[in-house]
Amino acid sequence: MKVLVTGGAGYIGSHAVVELLESGYQVVVVDNLCNGSEVALSRAEEITGKKPTFVRADIRDRPALDTLFALHKIDAVIHFAGLKAVGESVGKPLAYYENNVNGTLVLCQAMEAAGVRRIVFSSSATVYGNEAPIPYIETTPRGTTSNPYGTSKAMVEKVLEDIADADRRWSITLLRYFNPIGAHPSGKMGEDPLGVPNNLMPFIAQVAVGRRDELTVFGNDYPTRDGTCERDYLHVVDLAKGHLKALEKNTKPGVNVYNLGTGMGTSVLDMVSSFIRVNNVPVPYKLGERREGDLPAFWADASKARDELDWVAEKNLDDMMADTWRWQSRNPNGYRLL
Ligand code: NAD
Ligand code: WQD
Repeated sequence: MKVLVTGGAGYIGSHAVVELLESGYQVVVVDNLCNGSEVALSRAEEITGKKPTFVRADIRDRPALDTLFALHKIDAVIHFAGLKAVGESVGKPLAYYENNVNGTLVLCQAMEAAGVRRIVFSSSATVYGNEAPIPYIETTPRGTTSNPYGTSKAMVEKVLEDIADADRRWSITLLRYFNPIGAHPSGKMGEDPLGVPNNLMPFIAQVAVGRRDELTVFGNDYPTRDGTCERDYLHVVDLAKGHLKALEKNTKPGVNVYNLGTGMGTSVLDMVSSFIRVNNVPVPYKLGERREGDLPAFWADASKARDELDWVAEKNLDDMMADTWRWQSRNPNGYRLL
């Protein structure tokens, strides 16, 4: 079976490429490298001994996609490509809607023309909005999103639902990720953000490796156990495996939606202390102001994925910490040499 992975040179996509190759799938990656690296794909080859086909193209480039589908008999698409920085999206809404929403429209049009109607989409827990009861469960309707990134994910979910309603030949899976962190246990692949990391885990890792002086903990006056925000962090390899389960199990027409998370919340201070304890490295930090838009706490009800996909997150927080550090300490500058 041949799978097209959009955004396969990025953080989560490259880990999915490894799992796909290891499970015997043929893999074609399309990525414009705006936030990914071809080195991630060579590392995937080193790990698996198998080479994914790489097409450097933008998913909004319809002729490029038509050529790709004509050259490769694709059976299904896993769609990771998109922009993902929440803060940036507030200042650049057009770029986010253009990339994430229009990119998906062009991709689906090209799939339709090629007769490929199976897609697994990278959605996000952010579509539950600001007022959903915790834990988030799939039966709760999408909520009000508070930034263009989140809204773009909610819009794409709706577009895909409408496509499936209109044509029963489409089989669509929406995977709502919680907070993916960690790295491949080989230490060869991991998260490599450009510039200052927006997310907690890569920031901690860059402080530990000496690229940044200290972490600022955004707020310690939330109504949580220790006053800092709680999130549902899951290992990127578990997340990648969830995509394979979704591909295998969801061959029927229609839309299926699943939360992918552990079902547990961990605070920012717990994250810092776990990283220090597991890796025995210092992580200087200071307590700072709240970051605008952060919710105090949320985590997944992940029972639907367990019951229907036979997927559970198997790796624990210590694995996430150890694997992040193995990656960061062996690749202090990520995929860049300097
Ligand atoms: P990433 O930025 O590392 O990977 C995205 C990849 O898509 C990059 O390699 C980038 O170069 C590529 N890309 C972007 N726009 C493209 C376009 N128009 N054409 C072709 N390639 C393009 O991000 P990630 O963390 O691996 O996230 C993957 C997906 O999962 C994204 O859709 C993201 O919104 C979603 N998601 C991520 C998280 C998270 O915390 N990382 C959480 C929930 C959902
Ligand atoms: C986690 C916690 C911060 C950085 C984001 C997106 C979400 C999804 C995952 C894509 C929060 C705190 C962070 C720092 C800190 N992405 N923090 N100091 O905000 O839960 O989710 O990524 O879909 O849509 O919003 O993740 O890693 O940014 O933050 O104290 O330097 O760490 O306040 O409580 P978040 P995060």
